[in-house]
Amino acid sequence: MTEKIKVACVVGTRPEAIKMAPLVAALKRDPAFEARVVASGQHTDMLFQALDHFGIEADVNLDVMKASQTLDHITSSVLEGVGRFLDANPQDLLLVHGDTTTTLASALAGFYRKTPVGHVEAGLRSHDLARPFPEEANRLLTDRLAQLYFAPTQLSAENLWAEGVPKSRVFVTGNTVIDALFWTLGREKEPDLLRGMPEGDPLVLMTAHRRESWGEPLKEICAAARSLLEKHAELRLLVPLHKNPAARNTIQEELKGCSNAVFTEPLDYPQFVAVMNRSLFIMSDSGGVQEEASALKKPVLILRELSERPEAVQVGTGVLVGTDRRRIEKEALRLLEDRAYRESFANREAPFGDGNASARILDAIKKYFKKSGGVPESWIK
Ligand code: UD1
Ligand code: UDP
Repeated sequence: MTEKIKVACVVGTRPEAIKMAPLVAALKRDPAFEARVVASGQHTDMLFQALDHFGIEADVNLDVMKASQTLDHITSSVLEGVGRFLDANPQDLLLVHGDTTTTLASALAGFYRKTPVGHVEAGLRSHDLARPFPEEANRLLTDRLAQLYFAPTQLSAENLWAEGVPKSRVFVTGNTVIDALFWTLGREKEPDLLRGMPEGDPLVLMTAHRRESWGEPLKEICAAARSLLEKHAELRLLVPLHKNPAARNTIQEELKGCSNAVFTEPLDYPQFVAVMNRSLFIMSDSGGVQEEASALKKPVLILRELSERPEAVQVGTGVLVGTDRRRIEKEALRLLEDRAYRESFANREAPFGDGNASARILDAIKKYFKKSGGVPESWIK
């Protein structure tokens, strides 16, 4: 190992950018590290929109995204691209995040070169390979290949221990998304499309993009939203559309003609944070949004059958409503019409972190490299 610990951070999609940004910033500030950012470019617009907000520039952009890309395409091109990067720039540690195809393919590229892999947001499990698809497999396989595990919660650490990961390799750090959120609070920007809207007008935020929701489940979600909007003409439903046509086309089609549904392109992070804060509640199938909503004490209806983040449901900051239109509508109406119920969410403990996850991850990496004298102890278990 060189004097500095050489760390490359891979980011491919919007949530990876937002959740790795505080860690990249902390690594760049710390003289113990030489940090590089590798963008796979699995996302283009949404990835760079997120990186820009945090002032992070990628050192390398593999630029793999194609219109309506396949999982095979992402996997093979990221594997080859990150592999080429590592061959030209050997690293002491490769940090990957979460559960995307970029995550898994990058971890595999590291593994093939015996470069230690650190997994940020390790140990989340739904225990069902079909939900979320393909993310549950991505995170399981990444955890099989990694050497260092940054678990956001106690439960995610317990999942790893139960799979035989040695305790010495697992660090409970909190989720870096809370670092990103806290850094952004105070820098929010109200989007133009809300400017004309009187303060007190009821606003609800909705996002949906998951692969397993495409088709019928997404239509059910939209049917619930449509019914809600018809019953409450005063309501505004703000829907930032994901760039993936498989999700956005269905939503636009199914909510066509709803005059109180407001569509927008993906909002940049400070705008999205402002909208979360302004909303009465949120309906979303997004992982990151569940975590942020909990920290902001905003009720979130989780538009999924199953969650790898049961902490939100356990402490009651989120309600798992599935994709049945009646259930979604019933829970949404309750949140809209029962103010005391809605406000009770503000008293619930946020389970995903305190904004210091990045600092804990840096400490853990230093500790690990010190203990192993620069050489990862038993590279593979
Ligand atoms: C991906 C991740 C998912 C993550 C989500 C976050 C995989 C398999 N999926 O899903 O885990 O929750 O990102 O948002 O890793 N597109 C654009 N511009 C962009 C981004 C996407 O045009 O900036 C379009 C392209 O046509 C692209 C398509 O969306 O082919 C799908 O992108 P992809 O990354 O394959 O899947 P996501 O649904 O975005
Ligand atoms: N987000 C954003 N703009 C938007 C929608 C979402 O900045 O228009 C942020 C959101 O705050 C969260 C992240 O994007 O931090 C979630 O990304 P996404 O829902 O695409 O992925 P997931 O978390 O489901 O993997």
